[in-house]
Amino acid sequence: MEKGSERGGGGGGGVRCSRRACVLLSSLAVVFLTSLFFSVSLRGAVGFNYLEAPGWEESRRVKLVPSYAGAHQLPLPDSPQQRTCACPRCVGDPGVSDWFDENYEPDIAPVWTKDNIELPSDVYYWWVMLQPQFKPHSIHQVLLRLFQVIPGHSPYAWWDQHRCLRCAVVGNSGNLRGAAYGATIDGHNYVMRINLAPTVGYEEDAGSRTTHHFMYPESAKNLAANVSFVLVPFKTLDLLWITSALSTGHIRFTYAPVKQFLRVDKDKVQIFNPAFFKYIHDRWTKHHGRYPSTGMLVLFFALHVCDEVNVFGFGADSRGNWHHYWEQNRYSGEFRKTGVHDADYEAQIIQRLAKVGKITVYPGK
Ligand code: C5P
Repeated sequence: MEKGSERGGGGGGGVRCSRRACVLLSSLAVVFLTSLFFSVSLRGAVGFNYLEAPGWEESRRVKLVPSYAGAHQLPLPDSPQQRTCACPRCVGDPGVSDWFDENYEPDIAPVWTKDNIELPSDVYYWWVMLQPQFKPHSIHQVLLRLFQVIPGHSPYAWWDQHRCLRCAVVGNSGNLRGAAYGATIDGHNYVMRINLAPTVGYEEDAGSRTTHHFMYPESAKNLAANVSFVLVPFKTLDLLWITSALSTGHIRFTYAPVKQFLRVDKDKVQIFNPAFFKYIHDRWTKHHGRYPSTGMLVLFFALHVCDEVNVFGFGADSRGNWHHYWEQNRYSGEFRKTGVHDADYEAQIIQRLAKVGKITVYPGK
């Protein structure tokens, strides 16, 4: 019986044992759930911001054990995961300046290509009124013809965390004279120059290398074979002119005489995008002046294709003169008085960009 009862009890004992097991299991469950609850609470309490950020899976375990030695070596939340380049400071990094982040549009294309031929209508109407022409042309047709002569692609890559592309934007200010920036300018990956910008005879102050030269038809000159000519177009006739100057040579006059033929590397010709032009006018110069100066256009071009931007030859010299560095007569510089550009406002933007660390300005003499 006893055995039986034991046996029976085996069944009954099984029930009794199950109850005990249930109690035991319940206790274990309570302990488990309590520890789980504290674990989750701790996760929420420690390093909440870090856990929100993508790409921080590795550090999560570390955050749960605050005394873990590696915790002190963790990078700050907005570095280097959000770094857009390998320079000490990157133009494209967000979170440095609210003003910059609010206005900076990293996706807008600085170059007019086969892929963005069609202009948004607001851009089109703004652009065709910059230098109105009597004879209308179909921009689409004109560009299709131009892109048979030049590549019509953008050579600029997306951000690369492992790259540090350093660019010198060289304006034409007389403050370059005697500044001895030549070697510093030449040490950049890209050296961007504007309009006439001579280098021969000015190597010590202005450098001798050029990778990009920004000009419009009326300021255009022949360039060395390895230099990218970036045409800044102000009217449809400018697109017709560059097509002609690289082929038939039938255009010799716009509102002024222009070069019939231009000696530049056709494969390196790029067209400044009017949509990018308007973006600078709207967001950065904020409609001060009728439109931004070529120097402003180039500065923002650099801010969209480079990782580090250093600025030379902008603004007045130390005596307040606004001439060009190759001019003998200090007072011949009319840049500030044209009424087309707002030189003072542009100078403020440059100062502000420097203040928030997006550019470095070399002040000159
Ligand atoms: O005179 P130019 O337009 O060829 O000069 C190129 C650019 O250099 C200007 O658009 C302007 O942004 C800058 N510049 C300047 N101060 C000067 C002369 C030119 O900031 N004294």
